[in-house]
Amino acid sequence: MIAQKIKQAIRDIPDFPKPGVVFKDITPILKDAELCSVITDAFVEQLKGKHIDAVAGVESRGFLFGLTLANKLGVPFVPVRKAGKLPFAVKQKVYDLEYGTATIELHTDAFEPGARILIHDDLLATGGTVSAASELIQEMGGKVAGFTFVVGLGFLNGRERIASVSDNIIVLAEY
Ligand code: PRP
Ligand code: MG
Repeated sequence: MIAQKIKQAIRDIPDFPKPGVVFKDITPILKDAELCSVITDAFVEQLKGKHIDAVAGVESRGFLFGLTLANKLGVPFVPVRKAGKLPFAVKQKVYDLEYGTATIELHTDAFEPGARILIHDDLLATGGTVSAASELIQEMGGKVAGFTFVVGLGFLNGRERIASVSDNIIVLAEY
């Protein structure tokens, strides 16, 4: 089963990036080319029949499978980046973090109004990041066609936070 394969590959790092947090390190997955293909194929399989015009991957770990998924679906990949990284004209979204705020950006020509955008990130925790990405996409006239994550931390209730945006939420390995 794919969830089991992913969990076997993930490495838990206690007290990273701060004391009390157990970090889910996905880098061992990236060293396993076959598992990477299995992950991408699993997303494609579960997205069958869904209309998707582009995949938006969230910097930085959302770029990893976001691009391979977009390629496999045969649609454009658009990067959602942290502030000041995209070179062309951008639209911004400022959102709240535990302490302070963060800003994400998309190129203004990332997609056409009305486009159905799938949001991809490696991990769903509180849902704050993809929730901000959803708002940015909607403010730019796009529609959120769903979400894909390799890993979900169910105890942080991210799914509940984004359920009103789209009920098409795919999490391959849930903790
Ligand atoms: C991590 C992870 C998700 C986000 C999940 O990214 O890759 O993007 O946090 O958290 P949330 O659901 O509570 O918003 P991080 O900000 O660590 O940056 P990185 O992807 O650049 O490593
Ligand atoms: Mg991230």
